[in-house]
Amino acid sequence: MCGIVAYIGRRPATPILLEGLKRLEYRGYDSAGVAVLEGGKLKMARAVGRVRNLEELIEKQGKFEGSLGIAHTRWATHGGVTDKNAHPHCDDSKLGHGIAIIHNGIIENYASLKTYLTEKGHTFVSDTDTEVLAHLIGEVYKGDLEKAVQAALREVTGAYAIAVVCQKEPDVLVVARKGSPLMVGVGKDEYVVASDSSAIVAHTTQAFTLADYTVAKLTRDSFRTSTVDDVPVNAQVKELEFDLAEIELGNFEHYMLKEIYEQPRALRMTLQGRVDMRGGQIVLGGISQLARQLATSRRIVFVGQGTALHACMIGTYLMEELGKIPSDWSYASEFRYRNPIVEEGTVVVAVSQSGETADTLAALQEAKSRGAMALGIVNVVGSSISRETDAGVYLRVGPEIGVASTKAFVGQVMVASMLSLFVGRRRYLSADHVTKFLQALDRIPAAIERALLLSDHIKKATEKYIERENWLFLGRGLNWPVALEGALKLKEISYIHAEGMPAAEMKHGPIALIDKGMPVVFVATRNSQYEKVLSNIQEVRSRGGHVIAVATEGDEDIKSMAEDVFYVPDVPELLQPLVTVVPLQLMAYHAAVMRGKDVDKPRNLAKSVTVE
Ligand code: F6R
Repeated sequence: MCGIVAYIGRRPATPILLEGLKRLEYRGYDSAGVAVLEGGKLKMARAVGRVRNLEELIEKQGKFEGSLGIAHTRWATHGGVTDKNAHPHCDDSKLGHGIAIIHNGIIENYASLKTYLTEKGHTFVSDTDTEVLAHLIGEVYKGDLEKAVQAALREVTGAYAIAVVCQKEPDVLVVARKGSPLMVGVGKDEYVVASDSSAIVAHTTQAFTLADYTVAKLTRDSFRTSTVDDVPVNAQVKELEFDLAEIELGNFEHYMLKEIYEQPRALRMTLQGRVDMRGGQIVLGGISQLARQLATSRRIVFVGQGTALHACMIGTYLMEELGKIPSDWSYASEFRYRNPIVEEGTVVVAVSQSGETADTLAALQEAKSRGAMALGIVNVVGSSISRETDAGVYLRVGPEIGVASTKAFVGQVMVASMLSLFVGRRRYLSADHVTKFLQALDRIPAAIERALLLSDHIKKATEKYIERENWLFLGRGLNWPVALEGALKLKEISYIHAEGMPAAEMKHGPIALIDKGMPVVFVATRNSQYEKVLSNIQEVRSRGGHVIAVATEGDEDIKSMAEDVFYVPDVPELLQPLVTVVPLQLMAYHAAVMRGKDVDKPRNLAKSVTVE
């Protein structure tokens, strides 16, 4: 979602800001803007479209010099995608303060604030909630930007990460957050502020994260953090664990492809140090303190959205099978509003790559307020969800830049299986049973490596169906969420209409869609429901559909039933999603490239969805 970069220091701000915006492009955006304080005057540029449009505009407007500035990529919430709605936004020019602000989040009470300010004579030039906040800061400004920001934020409800500058204070950058991510990189005589560390690490590896309701006043060589009520708070500067190579494309054409290929290495990191083969144990330091409570819990609910939701579905199967605890999954967005029953012994597990998804965070908060134990399966260290949980397990798959989630998905499934084993071992599972399972887990990265060898074959097969606008993805049991994930991947990056569903459900309506040549992808590995899936394949064939199957290596029978077969290594049924998803990721990738789509930045999508 929206990306924030701000700089105060002794170097020219503009190149740092633009480079930072490019690093944040993966979050998804529709317009971008910059404001720099040059010789005590604000210089601003805003443009719809890519950051390169903004760069061109800046070149046209002449140099933007100055060593203090703010920059933003916007993902529209209030108001259309136009230059005037792009950030930064300024306070009312009549007041002559020259305040500019960038904002990520939503000001929920912006309408009443706007009415109040309009009555006071303010005129607004955009349709955004952010401009209202800029005017509010201007309204309460009395020569001290930090104080004005604190005062304004005391009146605001909603979520925000903001960075604010003021012409009258050329040596001050004020930033604040509540609910939306914000990080402050601490360099020598400079600070780089950003929505996430990818825009910071090129400059410094020392950083602190702002807690909710915290404001930071940054000058070139010092900083002060306080609450919105001006109570001083400590900020802990920590070393960022980040390897710049992880966010570089390297030899790959797209981040999505790079991340698909990174999956074996990523999962080795997920497993590292957590597997005790000899003792038949899984070691999860993050939740060890709650082990007993978890093992005696009565119900486990996995919540997430999108791809993470598919991992939640798989988590449910794994937890029931291995942990033997009644388990369920729910869209976080539905869970939070449906008056969920949280009885004693309920554990809610929030699954999220970014750790910032607004619905997932809110579901977790709702569950906690009703007395549930809150666990997290999260990738981004220190993210809002990870901080809100009682305990959790990080994915450790490294930064995911491509908007379409790939390596995070397998990481989430891997952690869900580890969590289920952790619980199961404390309940019914013998050390031997766990050891066998761990050996199978350990072989997964190599199995994915084999599945990746299919890429050329998948590309050729996909080419045959590339003109088709409607696809079905079907599977049973654990292959059902994988089918859903295959359909989601295809639709989100190639804009082909794709539906995923349980194979048995097809007969209850969707079969009417099947006509001659419609591609129907079956996840049809050898497992307990294999025979049933074969029957479903026959039903599709007899109606003229083109069957594409993901099958188990060595399965000769399926060859006669499918036009194209992608063979994956044989792994235990419970772990099959980790391998069967790979051909579907590759298929979606090749389809999007063939259709000439922007694979890493699909239209209308954002990497982390920080609004409801
Ligand atoms: C799809 C995708 C999204 C996310 C969803 C949740 O490829 O990336 O569906 O999975 O927005 O995001 P996180 O995992 O960050 O909570």
